[in-house]
Amino acid sequence: MPERPDRNLAVEIVRVTEAAAMSAARWQGRGDKESGDQAAVDAMRQVLDTVTMDGTIVIGEGEKDRAPMLFNGERVGSGESPQVDLAVDPVDGTRLLAEGRPGSLAVLAAAPAGTLFDPGPCVYMEKLVVGREAADVVDLDRPLTENLDAVARALGRDVRDLTVVMLDRDRHEEAKAAVRRSGARLSLITDGDVAAAVLAAWDQRPQVDVLYGIGGTPEGVTAACAVKALDGQILGRLWARDDAESARAREAGYDLSAQLTVDDLVRGDESFFACTGITPGQLLRGVTFDGGGAVTDSLVMRARSGTVRSIRARHRLSKLREYASIAY
Ligand code: FBP
Repeated sequence: MPERPDRNLAVEIVRVTEAAAMSAARWQGRGDKESGDQAAVDAMRQVLDTVTMDGTIVIGEGEKDRAPMLFNGERVGSGESPQVDLAVDPVDGTRLLAEGRPGSLAVLAAAPAGTLFDPGPCVYMEKLVVGREAADVVDLDRPLTENLDAVARALGRDVRDLTVVMLDRDRHEEAKAAVRRSGARLSLITDGDVAAAVLAAWDQRPQVDVLYGIGGTPEGVTAACAVKALDGQILGRLWARDDAESARAREAGYDLSAQLTVDDLVRGDESFFACTGITPGQLLRGVTFDGGGAVTDSLVMRARSGTVRSIRARHRLSKLREYASIAY
């Protein structure tokens, strides 16, 4: 018997990323990372509570740089079933937003309670993201150049036709050199590896084929919900900044040599992902304001069905201000 169509939570939580993006967008280019993040956090928290769910934040953000947070363990939603765990990234790319640069997003992912990977004390992880056709040919235990050759073969292309995106960080000097040796094209970004991961995993967007590098673990788990919906692959390996962090992780039972797959980062296929552009970027347009209104551009994904929705919304801020407590 076919099942009745059931609820797609992502279609509801996109209201949360839209609200976060509209609030944060007011801080574009004002040189104030904290306030932009705080505006997104406040808007997210308020709209989250209007969603019918018993939600717990399990992947919050901010520990790395002491940014304002939605706290790990914080309960959100109406309190009614379903019980879901949430990974939040109110602004991915706080510096991009503060400097008015392209590519910042508001991001939220949800999955049944207990199914998202808990990174414990590990703030960073090595990540390799590819799309569906190359999902089974990558392996973090092999050199990056071999992985790029394998991806090119899987896509039926020359390695010189691949574009690899990487955060521009000193810790990536060796990886940058490896991409250059391979012949693939390299695209360095200053921040925002969630958008880059979505682009790498999404075969309908040919601008990026591979994301590689060490970035935030929260961003990795959050992006994994999108990668799963797109049938791509994200391989991850926890990366400790120093011996003390590595000792803490081992004491907590983490194996820093283990290679995690998309199914380790998000178990099962009941996960949801929503994101809204704040500043314009390769993945999404940014928020635009005009007299009395704002336009947002979002993506909504559900792993079980594999549906990806692109949602352009026009918000009548003058009307919203009449009843919403968010200062848009
Ligand atoms: P924030 O929005 O928290 O500043 O994160 C931006 C980001 O670029 C992420 O996309 C990425 O995963 C992480 O920072 C990389 O960390 P770092 O800037 O410390 O190298």
